[in-house]
Amino acid sequence: MRRKLAAGNWKMNGTGASLSEAMALAAAHPDPQVDILLCPPATLIDRMADAVHGSRLAVGGQDCHAAASGAHTGDISAAMLADAGASYVILGHSERRTDHAETDAAVRAKAEAVLAEGLVAVVCVGETDAQRDAGQTLAVVGAQIKGSLPDAGVTGQSVVVAYEPVWAIGTGRVPTLDQIAEVHDFMRAELVARFGDAAHGIRLLYGGSVKPSNAAEIFATSNVDGALVGGASLTAADFSAIIAAL
Ligand code: G3P
Repeated sequence: MRRKLAAGNWKMNGTGASLSEAMALAAAHPDPQVDILLCPPATLIDRMADAVHGSRLAVGGQDCHAAASGAHTGDISAAMLADAGASYVILGHSERRTDHAETDAAVRAKAEAVLAEGLVAVVCVGETDAQRDAGQTLAVVGAQIKGSLPDAGVTGQSVVVAYEPVWAIGTGRVPTLDQIAEVHDFMRAELVARFGDAAHGIRLLYGGSVKPSNAAEIFATSNVDGALVGGASLTAADFSAIIAAL
């Protein structure tokens, strides 16, 4: 059985004062039945890891460079994230694909670096509004999975795939449950075709306007193993309610 995962992506939000939310979240879930992950901005990773040390809350990064070290001003390597206390790294989020022109090949190189460091890669995929309207959703998601995941080292322990329709992120618009199931079932089939039985262990998260009010029905949907949550992960109260629905 795949263990459910509730992952929070704080994006470019949070300062030291926000660590109280992480501590409250850890205190509220001393023995969770699901995995819980918070991915704060890089400036908070080591402080958050210290703040929740000894709890069941995992901490992750939101991106990394594909290289181990070197002349890459402003960038952070997977080894640095591990050193700061991260155990997961989000990769290929649509905001990075858009803001930083990240290609599938770039995401794949980063994922290889993350796996080499023994961290878990949370690889994001998802179609735009226009692509869905054009009937290209499965083709887009399939191509992103094909291009963004490494050939080697992909297992249920090393990789998580997050389906985040771009048009659902931060908009309050959520696909129908049938639409989510269609994509998640498709992703599972694509992963099994490529990676074999190991792919049955890969957790598939849904992301995009997940809230306490819609979490339970989304989590009951076929091949949904949890959520990647943005805005509603910023407060312990909202994220706890989502975790409780898993
Ligand atoms: O990575 C999570 C994210 O893109 C979803 O954001 O605010 O719609 O939950 P939000």
